Parts: sequence; structure tokens; C-alpha cells
Amino acid sequence: ALDVQVGSVRQQVAKLVKESLNATVPEVADVEPLVSACNNAKNGDYQCNNAMGIWAKIKGKDARFKNPNAIGQELARNLPESAVVESTSVAGPGFLNVVLSTLWIEQKIHQMLKHGVSCWAPVLTVERAVVDFSSPNIAKEMHVGHLRSTIIGDSIASMLEYCNVTVLRRNHVGDWGTQFGMLIEYLFEEFPNWEEIQEQAIGDLQVFYKKAKAKFDADPEFKKRSQKAVVSLQGGEEKYVLAWRQICNISRREFNVVYERLHVTLEEKGESFYHPYIAGVLKELEEKNLIEESEGARVITVPGHTIPLLVVKGDGGFNYASTDLSALWYRLNEEAAQWIIYVTDVGQSQHFDMFFKAAKRAGWLPEDESKYPKVKHVGFGLVLGTDGKRFRTRSSEVVRLVDLLDEAKSRSKQGLVDRGREGEWTPEELEDASEALGYGAIKYADLKNNRTTNYTFNFDQMLDIRGNTAVYLLYAHARICSIIRKSGKDIEELKQTGTLKLSHPSERQLGLQLVRFGEFVEDALTDLLPNTLCEYLYSLSGMFTEFYTICKVINSEEETSRLLLCEATATIMRECFKLLGITPLYRL
Ligand code: ARG
Repeated sequence: ALDVQVGSVRQQVAKLVKESLNATVPEVADVEPLVSACNNAKNGDYQCNNAMGIWAKIKGKDARFKNPNAIGQELARNLPESAVVESTSVAGPGFLNVVLSTLWIEQKIHQMLKHGVSCWAPVLTVERAVVDFSSPNIAKEMHVGHLRSTIIGDSIASMLEYCNVTVLRRNHVGDWGTQFGMLIEYLFEEFPNWEEIQEQAIGDLQVFYKKAKAKFDADPEFKKRSQKAVVSLQGGEEKYVLAWRQICNISRREFNVVYERLHVTLEEKGESFYHPYIAGVLKELEEKNLIEESEGARVITVPGHTIPLLVVKGDGGFNYASTDLSALWYRLNEEAAQWIIYVTDVGQSQHFDMFFKAAKRAGWLPEDESKYPKVKHVGFGLVLGTDGKRFRTRSSEVVRLVDLLDEAKSRSKQGLVDRGREGEWTPEELEDASEALGYGAIKYADLKNNRTTNYTFNFDQMLDIRGNTAVYLLYAHARICSIIRKSGKDIEELKQTGTLKLSHPSERQLGLQLVRFGEFVEDALTDLLPNTLCEYLYSLSGMFTEFYTICKVINSEEETSRLLLCEATATIMRECFKLLGITPLYRL
């Protein structure tokens, strides 16, 4: 019988190690098990590195132990009897190596096939999180930076959801700024009948924005009226609010097209939503004596920064920081979020660092950053063109996201047509596959890099069927599905009746990689680096290839077992795709 199992494999091994630590050195309280995968498979599957740390604490105080190796030996002896562990060994200064039971791995895989991947989810301490991502600005362009934020944020949210965290997916759109004064005035001027017109009549909002801005810069009269309009809007005057809403609706419709195409769901709570809370929040900060006067403005000084955080401008208006402080207050108090994650380009690091510190001064966040509630700025690098410069179109315009999606899709479609799929598939199938490949390629190319680095947007590279790309991985997955189809066996029935045996070393290696899925999700979430999961997926695919090159599947003696291993691999690949926002394909 299997133990009651929760958490990743590493968490399960750590649990055993923890029991052993308690039994071995009860005098050392609160020692956390240090368990990681072995770098060298020859040593074992996992290793425990506690012995040296314990040695440093008890050296000379415990006659049982003459050196760290002796502690390692004792830890091995005290490891509880369990179905998880096959054998242990102790090396050098007390490294405890653990070899997992192959039978246990087999059973775990079988369990996953029967009950679904949710049974492999790591256990996290957080229950409720906000992921603030995408967050474009109304009437300004939604650019590749927002695309990165959308892709990375969606993946982080999905990984948290996989781990049973309630995630509030928040679109913090910039819908409340001084730019609305000029937009509204320009709307009144260009469209005297603005209340009746269809929103489409305004046309491209970016062009509209540019024209309004040009007028704002050139015409002092217009500038003055625009500034008054901001006051009227913020004062809630109906006419201005209606015009504002109309402009927001146009942007919203454009954003939604992108979200729908990318299958990203998120809920808009823009800057305007938090506006009613700002006064109260500032009052609280005022009462805590955090707000000072500086050159007519109101500021909060924060440690480690030479300039203070501006929270009320000289003209009495609120800004990005006052909005973010209020949004944080709301998320902590009204939404009871324990972990609040902000996904923007690294250019905003200073802003986040400053307002996090202000929140700490206010006592909203604990000094000890390992305690909840926590905040985290997930910064990412620039998107570069193949020329190494900031990604722009030839006419040095900002690249429109829909154009990028269109191109990725049409290139993928051409690839499929070149492979003769046009005649074989229905037009819908061709469309769906082109989208899965094209959008998947864009997402994976973004996610596979460490997010903090700049990344080069290159269609040829991301659509390369032989590289580390979504296209390669989607083909690999489809190939596994086709092996199962070609066997002619009913895989659902095999899951119920068949047995899985990891006999060949390449099978065991693949099986071990499969059961480790949960801990890679855990690692990706610890540092909020989705590339960790991409690396896992790519190496899983490589291990499958190795297995399939060596081991015969169809018509072999081990056919049933190996088909189950194929199915398990395909299932975990699909779960990775899901967490990366990629739509799987079953044939290609
Ligand atoms: N609208 C901002 C931008 O485009 C991003 C907002 C990020 N979220 C936040 N709570 N500040 O740069």
C-alpha cells in the first residue's frame, strides 16, 4: 500500500529526513531538512546536506559524533522505514544519498495516470495570491513589454493555481492619468456629437492619442482646457466621466482581442478603481507620521533611496505611487491576499522597491521578508530586435501586438501547408494548429529565457522545429500521441488493467523525471522563474527520445508498460504546456 502522499517527491523525501533529524539530533531544534536532487545520478536520486551544518552546531558537545560523516551515518540509520526509499549511502562529510524505490516511482506514475496530475502538486504555504500582470495603459500602445508581462504573469498565475492557490489575476490598467484631460478635450473637439457616435468612429486610438498630444504641446489654450478637464473628470462630472468611459471602452476592446487570442484570462481592476481609496490611505499614512512636505509636494522617505517617494504632487494630484499604495492596501485588507506579485519590466524596479519600503514603514508588511504577507516585483528585460536594438518596426514605430500574432500564425500555417497538411485536415484544424504553433512559439521563446535578461524576438528561431522551441515540443508531444494511436490499444483501458514497469535504465530515468514534475513547479515558483519549467519540459522531451531510441514499444513484450510510460510522458508534457499557456496538439 502507498503512504498518504502529499507534495512533491522532494517534499516527501524531506519529510522522512525531518523525522530522522528529530530522532538523530533532538537537541538541535528547528533544523530544516536540506534535500535536493543529486547532481550526479551515480550517487543516488536525492541527497541530504544537513550533516555539516549540524556538525558546526554540536561539535564536541555530543560524544556520539566524531565528525560530520558520523552524523550522516546516523541520519541514514534513523531514516524511517518507507516505501519511498530503496537504499541510502553516506559520502564524504556526511552527505546522505537516497535512491528512490523504483517500485514506488512506478506506482506513483500509475496513480497519476488514474487520478490526474493534481495528485503531484507541491504543497505551498500560501493560500491566496494576487498576480498583477499585463496592465497596459489606456489609449497608449499595448507594446511588447505588456506582451511579456501577459505571458509571464499568466504562467506564474497558472503554476500557483496548479498548487491549489487561489489566484486573483489582476489587470492594473493605466486608466486614470492626466493624459485623459487632453483625450477628452480632443474627443469633444473632433466629435461634437461624441455621445452618439459609434466607438469605431474614433478609429485607431493610438493615432488619436498622438494627435491629441500634438495639439496639447502646440496649443496653450487647448492645454489649459485639458488640465481643467482632468479636474472635472476627477471631480466626477458626468459629461467627463462618460467621455472617459467611452475612451476606455475602445482600449478595452483592443486589449481583449489580444487576451482572447492568447487564451489569457484576467480581471480588470484599473488605477481608477483604487482612486476612491487614496484619500483614506494617505490619511492613515499621515496619522502614522510618514508623510512629509517637500518642495510643495508630499513625500515618504524610504531607506536606501536618496530621493523620497512622491505620493501627492505639487498640484494636489495623486500619482502612480499613491495609486499603488492604495491598491496594495486594498489587496491586503479587502482581498486578504498573502502574496502580491507584480509583473513589469525591470525599469520599474525602483518604483516597486520604494513603495514596498513605504508599506513596510506603515507596518503593512512584516520586516521579516520570509513572513506573510509578501510582495514581489517580478521584473523582466527588454525585447530586442534581431539588430540588438529595442524591438521596433522598420518605420521605428512600436510593434502592434496583433501584427505579431498574425505573423506568427501565418508563418506556422505556411509551415503546415508545406508539409502537405492542407489537404489532409479540415480548414478549422489547420487554423487551430497554426494558432497553437504560432502563439505557443511566441510564449515559449519568451518564457524559456531567464526573465531578467533581455530577449531577442526572432521568428525564424522561435519557429525552428529542431531548436528548443514550442514547435519542437509540440511535435514531440504529437509524436507520442501517434505512437499510442498506432498501437491500436485503448489507453484508458490499459490505465485500469495494465502494469507499469521501469526495467531499462532509460525507462527509470524517464520515470524519475516524470515524478519530479511537482518539484520543478515548486522551484519555478520559489524564484518566480518560469524558465525553470521550460528547462524541465525540454529535458523531459530529451529523455523520452532517449528511451524511445533504445526501447521498442509497439509489438514488444513490454508493450503495455511502455505505452503507459508514453501516456504518462504525454500527460506531463500537456500539463507543462498548460502552465506555460501553450495549447497542445495531438497530431501534426
Ligand atoms: N500600467 C503600467 C505600465 O504600463 C504597469 C502597471 C503595473 N502594475 C502596478 N500595480 N503598478 O507600465
